Amino acid sequence: MKNRSLKVIGGVAASLMLVVTSLSAEPVDDTLTVNEEMTLVTRTAAPAHLSDIMDEVISGWHFRGTETRAMQADDFDNPGMIFVEAGEDSWNTAEGSEGKSCADCHGDAADSMKGVRATYPKFSEAAGKVITVENQVNDCRENRMGAEKWKYAGGDMVNMTALIASVSRGMPVNVAIDGPAKETWELGKELYYTRTGQLELSCANCHEDNYGNMIRADHLSQGQINGFPVYRLKNTKLNSVHARFKGCVRDTRAETYSPGSPEFVALELYVASRGNGLSVEGPSVRN
Ligand code: HEC
Ligand code: HEC
Repeated sequence: MKNRSLKVIGGVAASLMLVVTSLSAEPVDDTLTVNEEMTLVTRTAAPAHLSDIMDEVISGWHFRGTETRAMQADDFDNPGMIFVEAGEDSWNTAEGSEGKSCADCHGDAADSMKGVRATYPKFSEAAGKVITVENQVNDCRENRMGAEKWKYAGGDMVNMTALIASVSRGMPVNVAIDGPAKETWELGKELYYTRTGQLELSCANCHEDNYGNMIRADHLSQGQINGFPVYRLKNTKLNSVHARFKGCVRDTRAETYSPGSPEFVALELYVASRGNGLSVEGPSVRN
């Protein structure tokens, strides 16, 4: 494997030295089989748009310790599954002026939502822009149920996205990056490579140049989002994609965009596309 440790570029060198040690640890060679019946694709050939940059895309699961990895292999041990159940309850609960539940229109989530997680964010004709699963859920709440929108990265929303992800587990991430999605994808790509904050670090400086290296006590992954929402042992709750982006941007000591902002929607599309081919894993378990 090529040595990726501390690729030093100009001013970035000093700040990276502060945080990344040259200790390198390979992603763990292991297979993720859930409930002894569903084997997920957790490493695969990089999608065409990344082929000049890397050979392989790897789920964050490979960068976690033995016990954390094991929790994800059994739904009884996966703390994220409790939130899927909460999402299921709210799926079946009527709310709003129309007196309807999600189930009233969509039926069983396991059938109607299968495949949804794998293709979002995606361009919506109705909205005239690229939207996330969260945007679509809130659109249904506001315009079809006559209910209040949920907070973008709040508990109700993340439970619902956990339910929606769970019914696509094992399906390959396959977001479109061309056609009407292209402009948004380009914006997301630009954001991914833009250095921010006092540390002048981009997403790529950590998750492309240094994955496999240790940063503080953490094993740096490729920053993939196929596992979202993610149950984190650190804060003992489910975390949405945009909440994670926010945390990572903050770590560079930069002002950050808010969850649901057009910038984070674009970044989500771009980051999702870097994982095209990996299985949907959500809800996954991480540090
Ligand atoms: C009154 C009927 C109705 C209710 C209630 C409703 N939806 Fe929808 N939903 C629709 C329709 C119609 C569409 C597809 C049309 C569109 O794109 O706007 C849709 C689309 C969706 C999609 C996108 C599916 C895809 O294949 O891309 C998701 C996700 C979704 N709804 C989630 C929810 C959730 C979660 C709830 C409950 C909080 C809900 N909906 C409540 C009617 C409803
Ligand atoms: C200073 C280094 C650093 C920068 C810059 C950084 N991250 Fe991270 N990121 C981390 C660390 C450390 C973790 C936790 C370990 C891991 O999963 O890589 C993490 C985790 C993640 C995860 C969770 C992966 C998983 O499997 O759960 C995502 C997604 C992510 N980062 C995306 C981003 C994006 C997008 C950016 C740019 C806006 C970014 N990061 C910038 C250090 C960084």
